[in-house]
Amino acid sequence: MWLLLHAIVLVEVKDFALIDGSMVTPLCPRGYFPCGNLTKCLPRSFHCDGVDDCGNGADEDNCGDTSGWATIFGTVHGNVNNVTLTQECFLNQYPQHCYCKETELECIKTDLNSVPKISSNVTLLSLKKNKIHSLPNKAFIKFTELKKIYLQHNCIRHISRKAFFGLYNLQILYLSHNCITTLGPGIFKDLYQLTWLILDDNPITRISQRSFTGLNSLFFLSMVNNYLEALPEQLCMRMPQLNWLDLEGNRIKYLTNSTFLSCDSLTVLFLPRNQIGFVPEKTFSSLKNLGELDLSNNAITTLPAHLFNDLQLLQKLNLSSNPLLYLHKNQFGSLKQLQSLDLERIEIPNINIRMFQPMKNLSHIYFKNFRYCSYAPNVRICMPSTDGISSFEDLLANSILRVFVWVIAFVTSFGNLVVIGMRSLIKAENTTHAMSIKILCCADCLMGVYLFSVGFFDIKYRGQYQKYALLWMESVPCRLMGSLAMLSTEVSVLLLTFLTVEKFFVIVFPFSNIRLGKRQTAAILSCIWVAGFLIAALPFMSENYFGNFYGKNGVCFPLHYDQTEDTGSRGYSLGIFLGVNLLAFLIIVFSYITMFYSIQKTALQTAEVRNHIGNDVAVANRFFFIVFSDAICWIPVFIVKILSLLQVEIPGTITSWIVIFFLPINSALNPILYTLTTTLFKDKLKQLLHRHRRKSIFKIKKKSLSTSFVWTDDSSLKLGVLNKIALGDSIMKPVSS
Ligand SMILES: *[C@@H]1O[C@H](CO)[C@@H](O)[C@H](O)[C@H]1NC(C)=O
Ligand SMILES: *[C@@H]1O[C@H](CO)[C@@H](O)[C@H](O)[C@H]1NC(C)=O
Ligand SMILES: *[C@@H]1O[C@H](CO)[C@@H](O)[C@H](O)[C@H]1NC(C)=O
Ligand SMILES: *[C@@H]1O[C@H](CO)[C@@H](O)[C@H](O)[C@H]1NC(C)=O
Ligand SMILES: *[C@@H]1O[C@H](CO)[C@@H](O)[C@H](O)[C@H]1NC(C)=O
Ligand SMILES: *[C@@H]1O[C@H](CO)[C@@H](O)[C@H](O)[C@H]1NC(C)=O
Repeated sequence: MWLLLHAIVLVEVKDFALIDGSMVTPLCPRGYFPCGNLTKCLPRSFHCDGVDDCGNGADEDNCGDTSGWATIFGTVHGNVNNVTLTQECFLNQYPQHCYCKETELECIKTDLNSVPKISSNVTLLSLKKNKIHSLPNKAFIKFTELKKIYLQHNCIRHISRKAFFGLYNLQILYLSHNCITTLGPGIFKDLYQLTWLILDDNPITRISQRSFTGLNSLFFLSMVNNYLEALPEQLCMRMPQLNWLDLEGNRIKYLTNSTFLSCDSLTVLFLPRNQIGFVPEKTFSSLKNLGELDLSNNAITTLPAHLFNDLQLLQKLNLSSNPLLYLHKNQFGSLKQLQSLDLERIEIPNINIRMFQPMKNLSHIYFKNFRYCSYAPNVRICMPSTDGISSFEDLLANSILRVFVWVIAFVTSFGNLVVIGMRSLIKAENTTHAMSIKILCCADCLMGVYLFSVGFFDIKYRGQYQKYALLWMESVPCRLMGSLAMLSTEVSVLLLTFLTVEKFFVIVFPFSNIRLGKRQTAAILSCIWVAGFLIAALPFMSENYFGNFYGKNGVCFPLHYDQTEDTGSRGYSLGIFLGVNLLAFLIIVFSYITMFYSIQKTALQTAEVRNHIGNDVAVANRFFFIVFSDAICWIPVFIVKILSLLQVEIPGTITSWIVIFFLPINSALNPILYTLTTTLFKDKLKQLLHRHRRKSIFKIKKKSLSTSFVWTDDSSLKLGVLNKIALGDSIMKPVSS
């Protein structure tokens, strides 16, 4: 079983695909990626981890996410910053404190409050960080040669409708970091040549005038006039060359299906940090050349199914930090050229492998959580590369956990094995009860096996866990381990409940004739195991419904799921831990409390009480420890489950602490509580050791009254309750004594 995982990690591929009859590329299995032109394939996690695993360095090539505008402008525009200027100034007129080079003029931080007088043949005008608060009509009308205007950091509030009139040659217009709230209709009317329009960090609320409709009629009329004049709601109507539009950090709430109509040349569209709540169908349908679209940090809750259908050339799409509730299963189906998809902080309840398959060129994908990466096996680089439980390097990130997993595994296995051995060696009068205890120990022992496996795999992957994380969670050993732990916990819980209920009937109804025979007990025990097996195995039945039920974290225990995981898994886990187990826990607590009071009452009724108070304390102690160990074990689990129901985010580390520290407590303590501390056991052990030490002496030890009562726990309990003396000495011995 252990070797299985290793076998699947390195795959030498023999299949080749002939593409175009000439190019030969290796075909890698799902989740694996080729080593350049070698025939070797390595899983995703071996790529871009800083280690040359291929041998030719191919796995460390092309790791950065360079898609989007950086590459687009590298190829479309050549080197943008390739300007060779002389020091000479060709402008006759320009303000003081400005800096002129050929026909380019920079007036930065010069306290200007309007556009100054400048020679008309200026080609670049930078008025950054001045005090220009408005741009009047025809502010630039003289500068017909102007190609670039920089107006950042001016707190421009008002731009007159004709401010940019006459700028027929303008290519680049920067208006970022101003106080612009609206873009009046027709203000970009003459900018036929404009390619870059940068408007980030303004309080612009709308770029489409559609939303005006419905206001008072007078206003509406004037708007209609404006429409007729400039068709302002179509941003690109008069700017057919518009290539780069940056509207980051504005207050845009609405986009309409005509906002970007006729923006055929648009390659980069930035809309992050706005308040867009809804993007209607066909909003981007004209953007045939769009290469990068950034809609991150908005308030988008739904995306129409066909929104991205026409973006045939899109390379980079950023949808991160939107409160998206749902992604259609074919949402990204037509993005054949997409290379980078950012879905950080988005929950995808219906995540599905088919969602990402059509994007053949996707090389980078970013998710909210690590587990989603298993749904995009065709993508070479997936972030984040680890979950909370495990660190980048190690399965168990915490060194205390690493040590304790072994300690607890040892205590659990050893304690239970000793008890099984002892119970078999020492012949008990009540064999049915002994059988139940032995079976309980068997179940608890499985927990030890589980913990040993966790420890083993932790060591195995030490230092390079992130490479194997997904493979590990998907692997058979992980699933088997998870189901083993589940089987152990559930059988243990059910058995404890059964033992408690049995004891409860004997003590609380001492005269009733409900008494289980050996055969009935055996039947019940078998049922409990069958139930345990069913509970553990059910998630294997339907991969569709449960997904990978066990492999949701490094320790393979299905304790916690975040809100988005498969509803099947979540519901099942909830039903088991907060349904079955909570019920069992309540039954146990209730039974012990009732038993305690019942015993106390019987004791009080009988006058001749030897050591009355001592007995009470002893009984209370023992009951307390049984209930207490159950509580330590289960209350953290219940709390986690209830918190997750209340949608509280639970860090992944909590799961590993609960699974390794709290859950096994019961398994480790059960042998002590149910056997090792009972007086009879101690007596028998003493006897046994005695006999072995002095074999020559055949001394038949007189069986004490108390001894016989303890061992036969339940059958003689009826007597025991009546006979306080026996009771005090035997069953209810406190752990400390
Ligand atoms: C792979 O490509 C490298 C150069 O990129 C070349 O030197 C090498 O011979 C190629 N190997 C094979 C097997 O084609
Ligand atoms: C870039 O600069 C070089 C000289 O440094 C010049 O030869 C080349 O034509 C320039 N390219 C562009 C696109 O301006
Ligand atoms: C710019 O215009 C001024 C007159 O306003 C003229 O003297 C100068 O030569 C012109 N420069 C260029 C580069 O055309
Ligand atoms: C835009 O949406 C409206 C309804 O909201 C519809 O009548 C119109 O046809 C749509 N326009 C385009 C180009 O899809
Ligand atoms: C997507 O947008 C967010 C925030 O706007 C940013 O932090 C992140 O780096 C972007 N993703 C990519 C792949 O550029
Ligand atoms: C993927 O990208 C490469 C260039 O990186 C391009 O040649 C190829 O056509 C693209 N594949 C698809 C399916 O578009």
